[in-house]
Amino acid sequence: MKSITETQAGLFQEALNLLSDKLLEDEGRIGVTFPYVTAADGSWDTMLASESAGYTGDAWSHGNWFCGFWVGLLLAAYVHRRDDRHLRLARERMKLVAQRADDPNTHDIGFIFNASAVPGHFITGEPEFAATGLRAAAKLRSRLVRTDRGAYISSWGSLDDPRARCSSAIDTMANLALLYWAAQITGDASYLVAGEAHAKMTRDAFIRPDMSTYHAVQYDLPSGVRARGYTFQGYADESCWSRGQGWAILGFTDTARATGQRDYLELANELADYFLKRIGDDPVAFWDFDDPALPNAPRDTAASAILANAFLKMADIDPDQARAGRRREQGLWLLEKLCGAPLAREVGHRGLLKHGCYSKPHNIGPDAAVLFGDFYFVDALCRAVMPGRFGPILEKL
Ligand code: GLY
Repeated sequence: MKSITETQAGLFQEALNLLSDKLLEDEGRIGVTFPYVTAADGSWDTMLASESAGYTGDAWSHGNWFCGFWVGLLLAAYVHRRDDRHLRLARERMKLVAQRADDPNTHDIGFIFNASAVPGHFITGEPEFAATGLRAAAKLRSRLVRTDRGAYISSWGSLDDPRARCSSAIDTMANLALLYWAAQITGDASYLVAGEAHAKMTRDAFIRPDMSTYHAVQYDLPSGVRARGYTFQGYADESCWSRGQGWAILGFTDTARATGQRDYLELANELADYFLKRIGDDPVAFWDFDDPALPNAPRDTAASAILANAFLKMADIDPDQARAGRRREQGLWLLEKLCGAPLAREVGHRGLLKHGCYSKPHNIGPDAAVLFGDFYFVDALCRAVMPGRFGPILEKL
């Protein structure tokens, strides 16, 4: 497998150094709140970990699904620097995040605990991390909705709410990793079955013939037939929201790894080819590939970071050596480019990757550092420069 170039090694170390320094500086400023997007002046906007998701009238709010990424970044800085301050802070922050493990309102507990409890347990072996992660995994599994065509995980809202019960989002694909981890830790195959069931329904209902994806799908119940595809954070119902395409690629890669089935890896590759076709030579994706304002539309560095992250994992598990090599090169290319102009080297900017786009339709962080983008970027950097330290080395299928 291709090793990283000297230039890449220098850039990746620089990014991890920036991260490690900024985290310690910011910890002194944020109190018990957690950063999520940067404001126009580069400072972090923050919120409490306890802020759950929910509807206000018809308006949906994701709440704080970012808090686990902060813990994950502290842990990544710890394995990079071996400075105990990062680990101590990660443990303290985890106490604030843990309350969300029982949150019945959102699939995003997958993001929260996959980024925090899972690496926390991997790095330290401490049972508290595993116990918290397993509580969240059980809650996520309980969001499964059964239909005549199979079962899927509902994304947004309490299952008592019919709006929540009948719909699911492409983002959930990235949350399946928590279920797959729980299956491995406990030996309870029901987590694996639940995750794969969701992946199968997503494969059948979310992917258009050209291999672009819907952001969300409303199912007819109990048939499980797609009633409509729509968007919440993308440009339009029939457009392709680039980050959603990234979540799909990552989630089908995780599903291939967890089930050992190559079909899911083939699917991840087809979805990835679509993404690459839409970005061409430009490593930073537009926030939505079909925004008519292109090329004067916002970018989303997070979407490209997620793609880079998925590519390094695809490369690790793909038994086709030639394709694995290509994916690794593409992943490293994306990381190198993200370490160029998007990397926030200036002291006043508190994130790592500038020009992410949290939610353009809601005007929240439409051109900002977004904490999840920083996390998937850093997770990929760790895989590139210190494999096996932040997460497991993946085996070939
Ligand atoms: N909730 C996942 C996302 O905004 O991408």
